[in-house]
Order: sequence, then C-alpha cells, then structure tokens
Amino acid sequence: MRVPPAPANFSFPTHVRFGPGTIAELPDRLASLGCRKPLVVTDPVMTGSAAFALLRRALGEAGEGKTWRVFSGVRPNPHEADAAAAAKAFLLAGCDGVIAFGGGSALDVGKAARLFVKKPDLKLRDYDWSADWSGLAPCVCIPTTAGTGSEVGRSAVLVPEGAKAKAVVFQPNLLADLVILDPELTRGLPPFLTAATGADALTHCIESYTCPVFHPMCDGIALEGIRLVVAALPRAFRDGGDMEARGLMLVAASMGAVAFQKDLGAAHSLAHPLSSLCGMNHGAANACVLPAVMRFNAPRAVGAYRQVGVACGLDLVRVSDAEADRMTTGFISDFLSGLGLGGGLKAHGVGESQLDELADMAFADPCHKTNIVPATRDELRGILKEAF
Ligand SMILES: [Fe+2]
Repeated sequence: MRVPPAPANFSFPTHVRFGPGTIAELPDRLASLGCRKPLVVTDPVMTGSAAFALLRRALGEAGEGKTWRVFSGVRPNPHEADAAAAAKAFLLAGCDGVIAFGGGSALDVGKAARLFVKKPDLKLRDYDWSADWSGLAPCVCIPTTAGTGSEVGRSAVLVPEGAKAKAVVFQPNLLADLVILDPELTRGLPPFLTAATGADALTHCIESYTCPVFHPMCDGIALEGIRLVVAALPRAFRDGGDMEARGLMLVAASMGAVAFQKDLGAAHSLAHPLSSLCGMNHGAANACVLPAVMRFNAPRAVGAYRQVGVACGLDLVRVSDAEADRMTTGFISDFLSGLGLGGGLKAHGVGESQLDELADMAFADPCHKTNIVPATRDELRGILKEAF
C-alpha cells in the first residue's frame, strides 16, 4: 500500500439503527427529522410482502393514503422516469420526506427522487453534481435485501432518459438521514435471492479491499465484511428465519457499500452488462465472474488475496503469496458453489455469441479502471469465456 501525495478524504457519516424490530421506531424517527407526511418509495411486488406489512403496521394502517403515501412504480432496472414519477407523487400529495423501502432499485429511486422534488424540470443528461443540491427532503432508507448496500451510498444508479445502460448519479447530499437495518424485513427473502444478494455484498468487499486506492479505513471495513459474509450467508441461505445471520448479512452489506466508496473492480464491469444485456440478477452475475476475475488478477498482483483469505478463515501463515491467492480463490469459488451460485454464464442463458458485445460493454464500464491490475477489452472477454 502506497501513501498518496494528495490529501485523502475519509467519511462515514450515515446514522444506522440496527436490530430486529427497529422498524417500529420509524414514526418517532420521522418526527425527529421533521417529517410528518412521508412518501414510501418501493416496487409493486414489495407492497404485497410480509416486510411491507411490518412497515404498514409501524406507520399505522389507518394513516395510509392520508398521513403517509405510497409510490410503488419502481422497476427492477430503474429509469430516470421512475425517480421523476416518484417526485411528482411526492409533490402532488404534499409529502415532506421519503422512506425508500426495498432492494437496491427502490432505495436508489427513493434517494434520487429528492433531486426531482428540488428541481422538477431536471434532466439527468444535464445533471451537475456540483450545483447547489442542499436542502433535499429528508430520507430514511430501509433495505429488505442484504446486498447492494445502497442505503449507505451517496449515489443512485439509474438509466437516464434515452440511454441503454445505467449511469451513476453521484451526489453527497443523497446520503440517507437515517438507515434502519431490521433483519425481520429480510426474513421472507427466498434462498436464491439471499445467496445472490449476499454474493453481491461479498464482491463489494473483495473488490473494494483489493482496489488500489489509499483508504485503510475502508480496507478494514471490507475485511470484516468478508468475515461476516463467510460466517453468516450460508446460515441465512439454509434457514431464512435465522435472525442473527440475517442481521449480520444486513450489516455486512452496508459495510461492503461503505467500503466501495474506494471503488470496485473488473467483476462489477462484467456484471453490469450481464444484467443490462442478458437480464441476469446482479449478484448472480458477480458470483459467476468473481472467481475468474480473481484467477486473472492473482498472477499479476501476487499476494493480493492473502488478507481476503485470512478474513475467510484460511490458515495462510506458512504458505507463499501465490499459494495464498490460489487457496483463497478456490475457497471463494467453492463458497459460491455451496450457495447454488456455481453454474457458469451459459446456465444463466447467456449465449456465446453475446460475449463480444458483453466484453465491449464491460470495457466501457468504469469499474475495471480501479481493478487491482489493468484489464484490456480482450482480457475481459477472456474472463467471460472462462466464466462461461
Ligand atoms: Fe454490486
């Protein structure tokens, strides 16, 4: 690790309330934020879920449509129009705060809707992150999956109007005023989604730890995140009612997203087009490519995965750097297979004829620019082929 000549910037400002049942605190927390009529931003599937029933109970069922409103128009790969529509609902109903409730898409749309509340004529193609975005409506983020960690992020990922791929809308003021991590809300998450979202959190931790940016505080958070995922994800996968494991996974997911303020790596550049072009679940896409990315990186940055392996619980004291990398990569590959995520891209419906376009799109994606070692377009294609 090299200390850079330029000043570094470390920031961990999000207030997080953690624990089973913390959703019940929501009315008091909203009041302390000065929010009397919140808009719940979520997706249409969520509104019929057990998690939403807990939210409804906390907010008071009699108040639905009166003292609190719901916007449930968030799509799985949300567009600019979703955030603009949520803002319109907010303004029409006279709301004064946002509860972003659900998976990463709902959290991103809930956070970003506040930009459109402040400037209803905003077009993302003209968005200037350095403009005055102070005074956004207060926002409480409540995740119902343990993966993206969007609840602690200072950006939202949306498809801008007229664009094909998602873009990152960065804005420090997008940070939530409060995050509630209540494992009861993830109890009903099915095993595949538990595994896939957890694999996303694991990939965040591994890629952010190995990304060559000077941020020792994030590095420590990433390593502890890896340790938590390795300990808790198999338990949550096997027994969705294991509230301790569910809780640890929620914390690990938040830690992964705090850590990736450093940045990410090639696995995410490959995963993004696998979702946008082939419709793969983001976490499953990461799980498919992560071992191949690690095998690509390891001989070019020998020893890069030693601490990752230690965080996984491997005894690497007396082994060479190259052997430590090999053992760690093997462990991660087996770990993901044990969660039902071991199949190649072909098993997820990806066609071999798509690999060239996927490689082009992966190379155009910015995440690989902070991969531990540089990767060319053809090398990214080679990783896809290996993961096929
Ligand atoms: Fe991710």
